[in-house]
Amino acid sequence: MSTTTGDVAAATTASSPGDHPGTGHPLHIACIMDGNGRWAARRGLPRTAGHTEGEENLARIVRLAVQRDIGWLTVFGFSTENWVRPRTEVRHILGLHERLFGRINELNDLDVRVQWIGRPFDSPSARTPKYVQRAIRKAIADTADNTGMLLTVAFDYGGRNELMSAVRAVRAADQPITPATIDEHLYLTELPPVDVLVRTSGELRVSNFLLWQSAGSKIHFTDTAWPDFDAHDLDAAIALVR
Ligand code: FPP
Repeated sequence: MSTTTGDVAAATTASSPGDHPGTGHPLHIACIMDGNGRWAARRGLPRTAGHTEGEENLARIVRLAVQRDIGWLTVFGFSTENWVRPRTEVRHILGLHERLFGRINELNDLDVRVQWIGRPFDSPSARTPKYVQRAIRKAIADTADNTGMLLTVAFDYGGRNELMSAVRAVRAADQPITPATIDEHLYLTELPPVDVLVRTSGELRVSNFLLWQSAGSKIHFTDTAWPDFDAHDLDAAIALVR
């Protein structure tokens, strides 16, 4: 079952970020891919099996998003809060990121360019292991010439950290604190406002994801667990703005 809720854009002015439904511009869809663990538990499988299926499904959703002419797809792969999970689970999810960033041929066939958003690797609090850093750098370089959809994976990402680091950078540059100067210092300045934020598996929370970029976005909540999120769900999310 799928339900749609929320219209945070209603709280903003006509020209504010994210408030551009019906304009025909390439859409930015952002997904909080929740429910892998519960998907696995319902089948008597370990949580890691749910994450594995979640990665497989992400590859399917990337293909569907390209077919629907989505401009930007941003997914929450691993948050700054996720490091407290059991070590074996964390290791498994890191391995799945390596697998996803390794899907270079598939991504090139789809003309998809890969990006990453998260705590800069050289920041004192960053925790991304070297092998994941290498996979991220390689995927970005090997897909850099693609001109189709931009797939951004959030890894070791937290919206509050991103905002704090942007504000610190604005102050260090002795600039006034304005929306424009904060925009300039976000982790990934090319990321446009989110049109639709999707959260799966029945949780009605934003969980520190793209707090600045989704200030005016519509929100699509669905009870579907991420591994089962399909074309029907994606189309319901897109229908909020197209
Ligand atoms: C939430 O499910 C999901 C995550 C914390 C990680 C998301 C990871 C994937 C979808 C795997 C592949 C994705 C990439 C980008 C490689 P949960 O464990 O919180 O599920 P639960 O709430 O049912 O326990």
